[in-house]
Amino acid sequence: MSQAPTIRPVDPVAFVIFGASGDLTKRKLIPALYNLACSNLLPQGFAVMGFSLIEMTDESFRSQMLEWVKNSGEVIKFDQKIWDDFALRLHYIIADFEKPEGYQRLKERLTQLDDRFGCGGNRLFYCATPPSFYGTIATALGENGLTDMAETKAWNRIIIEKPFGINLQSAIDLNTTIHKKFKEEQIYRIDHYLGKETVQNIMAFRFANSIIEPIWNRRYIDHVQITAAESLGVEHRGKYYEEAGCLRDMFQNHLLQLMALIAMDPPVHYDGRSVRDRKADVLRAIVPIDPEKLGEVAVRGQYGPGEIDGANVVGYRQEDGVAPNSYTETFVALKLMVDNWRWADVPFYLRSGKRMPSRMAEISIQFKRVPHMFFNMTNHDQIEPNVLTIRIQPDEGISLKVGAKVPGPEMHIQQVKMEFSYGESFGSHPATAYETLLLDAMLGDPTLFNRSDAVEHSWEVLAPVLGTWEATRSFTHFPNYDAGTWGPAAADALLEKDGRAWRNG
Ligand code: BG6
Repeated sequence: MSQAPTIRPVDPVAFVIFGASGDLTKRKLIPALYNLACSNLLPQGFAVMGFSLIEMTDESFRSQMLEWVKNSGEVIKFDQKIWDDFALRLHYIIADFEKPEGYQRLKERLTQLDDRFGCGGNRLFYCATPPSFYGTIATALGENGLTDMAETKAWNRIIIEKPFGINLQSAIDLNTTIHKKFKEEQIYRIDHYLGKETVQNIMAFRFANSIIEPIWNRRYIDHVQITAAESLGVEHRGKYYEEAGCLRDMFQNHLLQLMALIAMDPPVHYDGRSVRDRKADVLRAIVPIDPEKLGEVAVRGQYGPGEIDGANVVGYRQEDGVAPNSYTETFVALKLMVDNWRWADVPFYLRSGKRMPSRMAEISIQFKRVPHMFFNMTNHDQIEPNVLTIRIQPDEGISLKVGAKVPGPEMHIQQVKMEFSYGESFGSHPATAYETLLLDAMLGDPTLFNRSDAVEHSWEVLAPVLGTWEATRSFTHFPNYDAGTWGPAAADALLEKDGRAWRNG
């Protein structure tokens, strides 16, 4: 493949997907790699090796992937010529993650791919399997000589999907296991939110503009809200979700990462070490939640039947793969405080849920009221404070609510919006999160991936919530919100008692 002139050249590489017959491979990984091929961003020496127990040949793997790529909402335009070259590079072996024999065959086939496609001995391993296999795969790669690079200049890296552990101890154990075969700088813990353009832009917005940073602190900011709402239910993932629940599925990774990006201090450089150091500082500074007072800062919910976009939908307990008396939470709201110089006394309210009225992920920074209001023709209570809203998705953009004089003879103040929209400013289709992250992993840039300490800090923050909720499962009154609403009443009460309210888009 011819490579476009990029600032950073991509080394040749063989991309190995464990779990190649699974959902993630079809829906995200192969479409993202194909998009990279279309943008001329894959290296000349490139090949994919799928690894899974489901019976498939190279040919049937290719034709299955073709269907997914053609129908993927993430592929802008299908180009047969590019596909033909790309498809030739797709390969597959039927093998068991737990048996050494498969890894031996993998090793042989990778050597063949090096000869045929010039992958240079470089390996990028992707664990797109159920989480219980992550440690097994990392260990087996090491034990079967797939990580021995000492005598060559070749590199290998491993990408680990979320969830990374199911609690603090299991995350520590998994880190220990993987570290036995891979150094920290070879490990790429993926969180697809960090690859979203709008999420990457948080740092640009904060640190590439001199007017933002001076007001980004407790002196001017009243509170921060972070919402990741979905109108979808659990779809075909009932079995996984039953064990995960919203707190593990969305908070341990995506929401705490968004919070870290909003709250972090400026890094010295834009690189893996500096950025991740500053984010880890935030996670470390989150005030530990007191399990005795959990009710004051945390709300859990589960959706019952309801209506979304005019259509009736079933409740969580009626979904496939879900127990009829399930206590798994599909909604969480948390109030977190950050104990540092910049954020003391500024609450961060985080919430996420399934089957809410619309898909909407956004961050609202609500500023303090002006100290003295002298426009006596307008009722002062009607003059809202400034709110800066970062819309992660959909309708990606940033808006700022400001007070303005209504045209006319009198001094009436009204809120108006200043608006930046990605669509209008940049027009073109941005890369999908997986494209960005896969390319970064090939480039060896870990900036947008989670480091071991951040993962562990995040579990530490949530440990009191997980523990207390687990112990009190049967006291919950589930379902406690109708599908198509903004969650349980207790989530509104969480802010109301602080004299605040959720912003519902
Ligand atoms: C995933 C969760 O990590 O993120 C899903 O496992 C969730 O449950 C998804 O639906 C949301 O991602 P996005 O990009 O659609 O906001």
